[in-house]
Amino acid sequence: MASVVVVDYGSQYTRLITRRLRELKVFSIIAQPETSTKDLQAYEPAGVILSGGPQSVYDEGASGIPPGLLDSGLPILAICYGMQLLATKLGGQVDPNSIREYGKTTLESFGGHLFEGIEGEFVAWMSHGDSVSRVPAGFQVTGATADTQVAAMEDLERGYYALQFHPEVQHTPKGLTLLENFLQQIGIDRTWTPNNIVDSLTCEVQERVGGGRVLLGISGGVDSSTLGLLLHRALGDRLHAVFVDHGLLRQGEAEEVEGALRDLGIDLTVINAADRFLKALKGVKDPERKRKRIGREFIEVFNACALSLQNKFGTIRYLAQGTLYPDIIESAGSHGAANIKSHHNVGGLPTNLTFELIEPFRNLFKDEVREIAKTLGLPQELRRRHPFPGPGFAIRCIGEVTSERLDILRRVDDIFVTGLREFGLYDDTWQALAILTPLRSVGVMGDGRTYAHTVALRAVSSVDGMTADWTRLPYDFLATVSNRIVNGVPEVNRIVYDITSKPPGTIEWE
Ligand code: XMP
Repeated sequence: MASVVVVDYGSQYTRLITRRLRELKVFSIIAQPETSTKDLQAYEPAGVILSGGPQSVYDEGASGIPPGLLDSGLPILAICYGMQLLATKLGGQVDPNSIREYGKTTLESFGGHLFEGIEGEFVAWMSHGDSVSRVPAGFQVTGATADTQVAAMEDLERGYYALQFHPEVQHTPKGLTLLENFLQQIGIDRTWTPNNIVDSLTCEVQERVGGGRVLLGISGGVDSSTLGLLLHRALGDRLHAVFVDHGLLRQGEAEEVEGALRDLGIDLTVINAADRFLKALKGVKDPERKRKRIGREFIEVFNACALSLQNKFGTIRYLAQGTLYPDIIESAGSHGAANIKSHHNVGGLPTNLTFELIEPFRNLFKDEVREIAKTLGLPQELRRRHPFPGPGFAIRCIGEVTSERLDILRRVDDIFVTGLREFGLYDDTWQALAILTPLRSVGVMGDGRTYAHTVALRAVSSVDGMTADWTRLPYDFLATVSNRIVNGVPEVNRIVYDITSKPPGTIEWE
C-alpha cells in the first residue's frame, strides 16, 4: 500500500504528523535521515515529509536529507527545520531571524496549491530561530508573517512544498487542510481504513508464512487477541494460540478471553498454571525478582506447550508477537534499532526454541489495533479493555504474593472496575488499578476494633502510558466504591486514592 514517509529530525511533533496522516486515511511511517531512498522505497512512498527539529542547518553534524531523495523525483513537504534544510540543499539561503518566533502567529498566504481553500490570513504555530532569507531557484514564496518573509514556499514543477510553521499541531487550526492539500497534490489514494488494513495484513501474513504454522501467545490484552483473530483469518487452523493462565489476571478475565476466542473459532490451548506460578513466587518480595521468576516460568510453560504442539502437528516455524509501532519507535531513538522495552515483552515470549518472528502490527498504533479488532469481530468488552501488565496482580500485591492476598486484591479490583463501568467512567479512564499495600492499620467496624489491610486505588489518564495524570474521579464515585469495598471485603479497612502523576510516579506501584 502506498505511503507517506516522514523523515524525523527530532521534532516533538514527528509522531503527530504520522497520526494526522493516518487520520486522513493515508498509511505513514517514520524514517531516519540516514535511511537511503532505496530503503524508503520498501514503503512505496508517494511523497516524503521532512519534519521539524531542534537543530540549525549550520550546526556541526546537522542531519541531512536521505541519500538519493532529491534525485528520486518524489514530492516533498518540508516543515520548519526540514524547510531550511531543503532550501540550503537546493541553493537557497538560511539566516538567523532577528526575532525568534514562537507560538501562535498570523500568517498571510499568497495563493499556492497547499493553501487552496484557505487563502488569506490564518493562525500558524511557529517555533524557529532561523528562516529562509533567499528561496532556491524554481520556488515561489506563498506565505509570510510579520517577522518571517518566507513562511511558505512551493516549487510546483518538482512537487516541493515547504512551511516554516507546523501544520500538524492543533494550534494551526487549518493545518489539516494543508496536509490534505499535499496529499491531493501527490495523488495518493486515501484508503488506509480498518477493512483495507485487515486485507493487506492478511495478504502479508499469507505470503510470508505460505503453508507454514504459527504459534501465538495470548495474554488477554487487546493486541494479542486481535492478532489471534487476524492470523486465524489468514491461516485458519495453521494458527496455534496458547494462553498461559498464570492466575494473576483479573476476576473472570481468563474465562472471558478463552470464551471469546473459542467462539471466534480459534484453536486455543489454555494452560492453567496458577499453582506453578504461585510456587515460583513464594517468599519473593522484590518486584524485579517477581518479574524475573514470572518470565522464567512463562517461558518454561510456553516451551513445553510448543513442543507438544510440534509433536502433534509437525514443525511450527513462526512465532507471532503483537508488537506495536510505538514500542519500536520509542525504543529505537534516532538510530533505528528496534529494541523493544523488555518489560512489555513478558506476554510476548522470548523463547529458546528457534522460531522466525512475525509481527504484523509493527506499523500500527494502539487505536488502529482497536479499530481492526472491531472489524474482525472482537467483542467490545475485550476491545476497550484497559492495559494490564504481563506479570498481572503479582506486581500490584506489594510484598509477598500469596493466594490469600491475591484473592483480596482480585475482589477489591473487581469492585473498583465494575464501579467505573457502572458510573460510565471506564472508557474515559486510560487505566485503573487497585494495589494491595503491605500496610495494616487499626480501624473500627460495628462495635469491634479491626486490624486490617490498606488498599490503594489509582486511575490515570494518558495517551500512551509514557506520561500520565491522575484522574479526578468524582468524590461520589470514590465514596460509593470505598463503601462497597469495606463492606464486601472484610479483610480491608482502609482505602486511599493515589494523586501522583507520572512522572514522578509510575502507573504501577510494584
Ligand atoms: P509504568 O508502571 O512503568 O507502566 O508507568 C506503564 C504502562 O506499562 C504497563 N506495564 C506493563 N505491561 N508488561 C506489560 O505488558 C509489564 O511487565 C508491564 N509493566 C508495566 C503498565 O500497566 C502501564 O500501562
